[in-house]
Formats: sequence, structure tokens, C-alpha cells
Amino acid sequence: MGEDFGLEKRAAGRSLSAFQDEDHSSARNDLFWNIYARCYDSIYHLIPYRQLLWDCLEALDLKPGMKLLDAGCGSGNFELFMAEKGITDVVIEAVDLSRVMLAKAKNKCENLLTVNFTKHDLNKAFNFKSNSFDRIVCNNVLYTVSNPETLLQTFHDLLKPGGRMVVSDPLPSFKKAILFKDHLKRFKNIHSLNDRLSKAGKTIIMAPALTTVSVLNVVIDYKVKKKEYKHFHENEVNNLFGNLNYQEVETGKSCADQNWLARGVKKRRIQ
Ligand SMILES: C[S@@+](CC[C@H](N)C(=O)[O-])C[C@H]1O[C@@H](n2cnc3c(N)ncnc32)[C@H](O)[C@@H]1O
Repeated sequence: MGEDFGLEKRAAGRSLSAFQDEDHSSARNDLFWNIYARCYDSIYHLIPYRQLLWDCLEALDLKPGMKLLDAGCGSGNFELFMAEKGITDVVIEAVDLSRVMLAKAKNKCENLLTVNFTKHDLNKAFNFKSNSFDRIVCNNVLYTVSNPETLLQTFHDLLKPGGRMVVSDPLPSFKKAILFKDHLKRFKNIHSLNDRLSKAGKTIIMAPALTTVSVLNVVIDYKVKKKEYKHFHENEVNNLFGNLNYQEVETGKSCADQNWLARGVKKRRIQ
């Protein structure tokens, strides 16, 4: 009897410490992204990142009145990009863990389109109903969650039949240097000399923030090494999506080939 009680007590102690570990890791994650939020907007002007936003937008194939979930919306870059491209007739639920990211997002976007920014931890259950979204986008976030397979399964559940999910994440071989090189090359090709001079000023102003982003990316690399975060290889991506009930799954690359991008359409119900 005494022994049983001891076991029970140890088991209770173990589960309590498991909960505490979870809370600490969630608080650490929150803190990290709150710091990151202070310089995150600087990447908005990088051409490969804008290409990634464009590729997501194109893959989503949004139509007026659709309901979109942006899972891990960050500082609202995707929403701002949508507004810049004139797509303002979509109803967006945008969630993120970081209150600083969300504050920036609200500041930037709330008057531009119909968007509801909410604090939510993607490691926890959503309050949304099954089959309630036409589209879901999750850009540069999947690597941070503790159970990516479960999150993708949840996205599948939240999508209406025929709805689309677009997910992109950095590849394990992701190199910032390639991204910056691609930016400089395309910057020269896209803009006239006058434009280049005026935009170069902006880049110089952004330089300290971009440097901080690079430093924080070293922390991300460390978290990947410690297996706190996970970057998926292309074949792993196919398996991830292959196990879900999608009608079509297309995978490709974006962001100067440093990211994988996958698009899946949820099967329609058989009549
Ligand atoms: C690299 S940013 C990407 C932001 C945005 N999707 C974009 O493309 O600009 C990663 C985002 O994931 C968020 N994040 C990290 N872990 C999260 C979690 N468990 N739940 C919700 N959001 C999370 C961070 O706060 C951050 O805003």
C-alpha cells in the first residue's frame, strides 16, 4: 500500500515537472519571439522574402469573401503584403504566440483589411470549429512547434472540404548568405539607378535590425541543433503531407531556394 502511494506520488511529481518543463519552454519561446519582433519587420524589404510571400499568396488562390487562417502571423507581413496587392476582401483570423509581434501587426494592418489578430499558442488546441476555413497559411512557423504532424492534422480538420493549406519553412540547408546574395542580384536587375539609390538608403537604415535578425537566426540554428526546433528535408515534407488526406499535394521551393513550400487541397466529401 505504502509502496503504491510512493509510486503514485512519484508519478504525480513527474507529470508536474513535465508540465513545468512545458511551461518554461513555452515562456522561453515567447520571450525569444518577443525579442525577435523588435527587428523582424526589417526582412519585409528583402526580395527573396517578398518572393516567398508572393508564392504563398499565389498558391492560396484567394477569392473574395473567403475565410483565411494565418497560423503564426508574426508582425503581420503577409497581411500587409496582401493589402499592398489589393486583396482586402478576405476575412482573416491571424494568430501568433508573441504579443509584441501581434502589437506590431495590429499597428500595421488593422485599418487595411478585415483581420482579427489573436494571441494563440499553436502547440495548444484552437477554439475554431472544424471545416471553418477556406484557406490556411503557415509561413516560417512549423519548425518552431513541438508536434508539427499534429498541427498539420489540425489544419486539415479546420479546412472546409476543397479548402487549401499552404505551408512553407526553411530547409535544413538554409543559408542567410544565399538569401542576401539573391536580394542584391535581383535588386540590381529590378530597379533603375535612381530607385536603387533611394532604396539603398532604406537598406542602410535597416542594417542594424537586419544584423540583429542574423544574430537571432544563430539562436534558431542552436535550437535546431538541440532538437527544440526542427527543419524538414524535402523528402520528410512529402511524408508529412502524404499521411494526411489531401487530394493534391504540390511541393516546391521558394525564398531563393532556401525554403520548401507545400500546397494541399482537402478532399471534397463523396456525394
Ligand atoms: C519567423 S516568424 C514568421 C512570421 C510570419 N509567418 C511571416 O512569415 O512573416 C515565426 C513566428 O512564429 C511565432 N511562433 C513561434 N512559436 C509559436 C507557437 N508555439 N504558437 C504560435 N506562434 C508561434 C513567432 O512568434 C513568430 O511570429
